Amino acid sequence: MSYYDQVKEASDAIRARVRDVPQIAVVLGSGLGDFATSLADAVTMPYGDLPHWPASRVIGHDGKLVVGRTAGKDVAALAGRVHAYEGHDLATVTFAVRVLGLLGVRTLILTNAAGGVNTGFSQGALMVIDDHINLMGQNPLVGANDERFGERFPDMTEVYSARLRAIADRAGKGIDLLLPHGIYVALVGPSYETPAEIRYLRAIGADAVGMSTVPEAIAARHMKMEVLGLSCITNMAAGVLPRPLDHAEVMETARRIRGQFIALLEGVIGQI
Ligand code: HPA
Repeated sequence: MSYYDQVKEASDAIRARVRDVPQIAVVLGSGLGDFATSLADAVTMPYGDLPHWPASRVIGHDGKLVVGRTAGKDVAALAGRVHAYEGHDLATVTFAVRVLGLLGVRTLILTNAAGGVNTGFSQGALMVIDDHINLMGQNPLVGANDERFGERFPDMTEVYSARLRAIADRAGKGIDLLLPHGIYVALVGPSYETPAEIRYLRAIGADAVGMSTVPEAIAARHMKMEVLGLSCITNMAAGVLPRPLDHAEVMETARRIRGQFIALLEGVIGQI
């Protein structure tokens, strides 16, 4: 079965389970899955129940799609994503985004846990992604182009919608949240960066670094979805503070700010 047909089957399976098809979707980063359980009138679909859906094995990723309502809108929330560092190719990494696109989602909010490269950031801050730098050495659009998804050479001039970034600013103000903006750099991982790599990333213009989001943003733009990116700065990047990094700290910080994170998402979704 072709990749497109697999995506189509998964999207049809979701359509059969929901009453109203959402036009907004949120992909939830490490430790940020609680938003999914905050939705009202929710239909929960464990990834294992959806045809062809790849399973994530990272701790802190639940592995379910929840469709429900918040701020007066129908929303799909994905708790758990698969990453390139798990050994998946980027077609697999972007499968969920492709499914959402075929389902009819027009606005995609991509969230992640990220390291703070910009030393002006504080741990626990939320950052609006203004643009990205893809240092994964891979691109999800490599291979034969399927025109049913989009064109061969999609424009990437405004991956992260200026309109949605302005909405995020308004939503941040509404809850008295300082919301810095910045450039997100994606590396494949799974090892964290060295201090020398972080100095390099700072020199090329990075504010935050992580291991996700960029392939999904590229696939979403290929399908002409409007994208918003939000990073939770779960830790200062390697070498900024005189101590090692660990995944437990990433999870702990994400949990600590979950109330703010959910309030920000609700504010954004209400204004879309
Ligand atoms: N580096 C890369 N990915 C991350 C980090 C980091 O410091 N923190 C959370 N995800």
